[in-house]
Amino acid sequence: MKRGSSYTGIKRRQVCTSCWRARDRCRKLKKMREATIPTTLPAKYYTDPTIFKAEIDRFYFGRWIYAGREERVEKPGDYFLCDVAGESVIVTCNASGKLQAFYNVCRHRGTRMCTAPEGAFEGRIQCPYHGWTYALDGSLVSAPNMGGTGFSRFDYPLHQIACDIWDGHVFLNFAAKRSQLAEQLGELPDKFAAWKMGDLKFHKRIVYDVKANWKLIIQNYNECLHCPTVHPALDRLTDYLGADNQAPSPNYIGGSMGFREGMETMTFDGVRRRDYLPGLNAEQRAMVCYYAIYPNLLLALHPDYMMTHTLWPKAPDRTEIVCEWHFDPREMAKPGFQGDDAIEFWDQINREDWGISELSQLGIGSRAYTPGPYSKREELLYAFDRVVTEE
Ligand code: FES
Ligand SMILES: [Fe+2]
Repeated sequence: MKRGSSYTGIKRRQVCTSCWRARDRCRKLKKMREATIPTTLPAKYYTDPTIFKAEIDRFYFGRWIYAGREERVEKPGDYFLCDVAGESVIVTCNASGKLQAFYNVCRHRGTRMCTAPEGAFEGRIQCPYHGWTYALDGSLVSAPNMGGTGFSRFDYPLHQIACDIWDGHVFLNFAAKRSQLAEQLGELPDKFAAWKMGDLKFHKRIVYDVKANWKLIIQNYNECLHCPTVHPALDRLTDYLGADNQAPSPNYIGGSMGFREGMETMTFDGVRRRDYLPGLNAEQRAMVCYYAIYPNLLLALHPDYMMTHTLWPKAPDRTEIVCEWHFDPREMAKPGFQGDDAIEFWDQINREDWGISELSQLGIGSRAYTPGPYSKREELLYAFDRVVTEE
């Protein structure tokens, strides 16, 4: 063999043929390599108040937003409040039993009328300032001392917000031009019909105040690569590489995970202490579905219960997260029913997730942070980033 030709062959493989630097030192090749790897977002998407506001205006107020469960407003006058990025909303049930939502803003001088987070109106909504009074359908029925002004009470109903229901989940839409909720949800109602979510009943709620951007919560929810390190208790129940992710959609991302041998649900010991939810087939009984339904509902469907997380972004680096657990009422009625095993398990996992998300927020806020490479198993996160930044 001729020495020279062998040397040239090795050189061609190991150096850049433009600058003749070693390939791993060539800036041009490094840039080309990086351009093919999807990366996380620049820091400003997690820290900049202007971007935060623009995201909320576009990504939240342009969509149907999850508000809470229909059972909270079952009877006329029942209500609960939502704070959607500073916009207070009254969700209530009118005298005919119809779901309604109103801006919590009096039509007289704009006062926020209702402050208790939930309760029951006694047939009317009254502003505490000058006593303007509204019926449960939002119409103004009484406005003291307005005589002699040409005023008509019919001109001043409460400002309404569109609302709709999917299997017991209440959604709100603030947009003047909006699609139907069904259109936003796509195939999800069919896909999850077997869980009969509308029949499930609330058992417990825990509210967390997390010092992290809302997108970090959604990203964390949609990958389990962190499970062995962050969640040893969860890792005993499911294989972190066993996620069966669905192709990303513009309105949701998610997938399902099976159980390790001998485990039947998500509790510390994997023991299922309740019957399977009625309607589930053998395949559905053997998995948990985890879906992030944009903009703010994280839905986790277990063989024997449903867990929801609702995200309420408060600031670029702060998100309120409402976690609720829901069970089959027939199980709840049985003597000795308990759901604490599910709650204690997920409360620990939640706190681990919020802790690591807060550390992410802190690191991203450093001047040293630059976007990092996503792995193949983080494709849902990249898809989510693109929807948030490009739509
Ligand atoms: S501001 Fe509500 S009654 Fe005056
Ligand atoms: Fe996690």
